[in-house]
Amino acid sequence: MLKKFRVVESSEDSFFSDVLQGLGRKQKTLPSKYFYDDAGSKLFDEICELEEYYPYHTELRMLPVISRELAQEFSGGLDVIEFGAGSLVKIRLLLEHLNGVRHYMPIDIAGDYLRKATCQLGDEFNDIEVTPVEADFTNPIVLPDNDNSITRMGFFPGSTIGNFSLIQAIALLGKFRKSLGKSAWLLVGVDTKKSPAVLYRAYNDAAGVTARFNKNLLLRINRELGGTFDVDHFEHYAYYNIQEGRIEMHLISLVDQKFSVNGVRFALQRGESIQTENSYKYSPGEFKELAKKAGWTIKRQWQDEDNLFCHFLLYA
Ligand code: AVJ
Repeated sequence: MLKKFRVVESSEDSFFSDVLQGLGRKQKTLPSKYFYDDAGSKLFDEICELEEYYPYHTELRMLPVISRELAQEFSGGLDVIEFGAGSLVKIRLLLEHLNGVRHYMPIDIAGDYLRKATCQLGDEFNDIEVTPVEADFTNPIVLPDNDNSITRMGFFPGSTIGNFSLIQAIALLGKFRKSLGKSAWLLVGVDTKKSPAVLYRAYNDAAGVTARFNKNLLLRINRELGGTFDVDHFEHYAYYNIQEGRIEMHLISLVDQKFSVNGVRFALQRGESIQTENSYKYSPGEFKELAKKAGWTIKRQWQDEDNLFCHFLLYA
């Protein structure tokens, strides 16, 4: 199975070239996908335990209800492919309620973390074949031929879609549709537009876990790319940009400073920043338009009582 299912990796040192490219810009940026090394994946799990980080708790409450309804939709066999699977907590809520899942394929950029999580899952659900795939799901995805016409469902929870700009998000959902093939389904979790105070709290937690998550990116560059960042010279800053409809996360320089990555030198003035993440929020109507532009049909939609989070079931 592993051989037929692969994600084509672009190049081995894309981390280094992406970092050089981002730090070379006037507004310095770093791609948020590089948050997720082993330490970063653990810190993200810690974020999910925070009371302020409502997307996780809300989604966990919604998933059992959604899975029971999906169980009626899919009476036959089902293959599930998860994009950015992380700790594999959410898939358990689906697998517990959906009968007939034959094969589960979690894709994640953090390989060691994924393999550890997969071992445990395999023991709990021993009649489901589980194939972990260490890969960046933004690269081209080649799924095995679906000749026995088992129903296929993509699973893209957590509002990971929020890390992409509108144009990138349309392209990504379009790519998932082509990889999953005709008559496939996609269950997507989306964080909604809401009170900026609620959003602000979710990305500026009192315990400072999100700040550590943000700064871990610099520590990772130090570890893996010979970076010379002093994280004490940076402050975590996250705010809701109303015009763009997104949370922006930055690391703001507290001093005039110089640093280098594998010998390549950069400078930041006090008050300038490195932008590390965008997290776009969508009204349900906006997301439906996006999904349609990517060629999907909207079959079902779920929202929690407080309209904090949405799930959409899309059909190819
Ligand atoms: C995993 C991208 C959905 O944007 O809310 C959490 C990442 N960043 N706190 C998000 C994140 C800071 C998260 N996503």
